[in-house]
Amino acid sequence: MPKLIFYEQFRLEKSSFSRYPLVPSFRETLHKVEFCSDSSFVVSLLTFGTGGRFGRLSAPLAQKLVDHAVSSGIKVFDTGFEYCSGASQKLLFKSLSRHLYADTCDIKLSTKFRLPLHFGELIENVNDTLSLLPSRGYIDTLFLWGPSIADLTNSFIWDELNMLKQSGKIMRYGVNTHDHVVLSHLHESQKNICLDDIMLDYNLLQLDRKILINSFANSGVKVWAGTALCQGYLNQSLFDMVRRTRSFSYLARALFNPSTFRFLAPARKLRNFIRFNFPQYCESIPLSFVLQNPSVSFVPVGMLSCSSINSNLQILSNLVPVDILETVSSWARLNCQVRD
Ligand SMILES: NC(=O)c1ccc[n+]([C@@H]2O[C@H](COP(=O)([O-])OP(=O)(O)OC[C@H]3O[C@@H](n4cnc5c(N)ncnc54)[C@H](OP(=O)(O)O)[C@@H]3O)[C@@H](O)[C@H]2O)c1
Repeated sequence: MPKLIFYEQFRLEKSSFSRYPLVPSFRETLHKVEFCSDSSFVVSLLTFGTGGRFGRLSAPLAQKLVDHAVSSGIKVFDTGFEYCSGASQKLLFKSLSRHLYADTCDIKLSTKFRLPLHFGELIENVNDTLSLLPSRGYIDTLFLWGPSIADLTNSFIWDELNMLKQSGKIMRYGVNTHDHVVLSHLHESQKNICLDDIMLDYNLLQLDRKILINSFANSGVKVWAGTALCQGYLNQSLFDMVRRTRSFSYLARALFNPSTFRFLAPARKLRNFIRFNFPQYCESIPLSFVLQNPSVSFVPVGMLSCSSINSNLQILSNLVPVDILETVSSWARLNCQVRD
């Protein structure tokens, strides 16, 4: 029998998250356990991510999705100040408001601000965001979104982040970037800037990132592996994704954004390998792979229907066996990698 340890107490110890009382129900426990057995592993937290498409949902549908996510035990919600010109963040926080009033509420919120920002703008944006959260008064994690190294050398940004932290308006801060040069820079300058969290792309096509991810995690930085898009391309083609979602933003992103375009051909190769060898796990391998990495704490995934939430929770509670994930990643390492 695997020994169960409360995941959140174990993983978020010493972090500001742990200041909230935890009274986990059975269902919550399901998403927060470490299984200690011969082949021990830690399960990451599935996070409700709201990108641009969420901002275009109707208010009743957004409310339905958020209510369903909360009642299913999802506790972490991620958005961005500029996603869908602000509509995603607004809609998410409005839909969450009925769940945020209780003193014992253990829902965590993260949002992102795009750099470069001018002096004072960060504080202004945080105040604007907090005005959407009257029953809350703070953001759990604030990410700087897509900064260049030059942006990160502006010391006033770090001063403002520290001020916001001291004032209790933000609990933690981090950086969201896919750029390997920026990631390496952050890793090297960690001691000076004391990041709490890092959000980056990670999936079966980027196995080299494992070293960096482990290293961040070992130095106490919580890793958020944003992988929704690539996950999509790993179990369905771009064409199928556009047809299914009827969203041309995927097509535009894939064709005109070089950092997405370069995933298409390797993703097709891997999709075919998985379909041929593990047809029963086609849907679950990409997400399972990220969730079972002990160095990854949070996995933000865009989920725009209740069935999508249910199927991802199903994947979380029934992860693909480790030996199959190892076979797939060994094959992927040799045959289809997107190098930094
Ligand atoms: N690297 C990063 O930092 C990074 C990258 C991407 C996303 N993110 C974060 O992820 C969140 C969502 O972003 P987004 O709205 O742009 O999401 P998205 O990438 O557009 O993904 C949403 C789509 O993925 C589908 N999906 C959900 N679970 C899946 C699974 N297990 N396998 C395959 N497809 C799946 C959803 O299907 P349904 O329509 O059926 O729900 C939906 O169509 C945001 O919080 C964003 O910040 C971060």
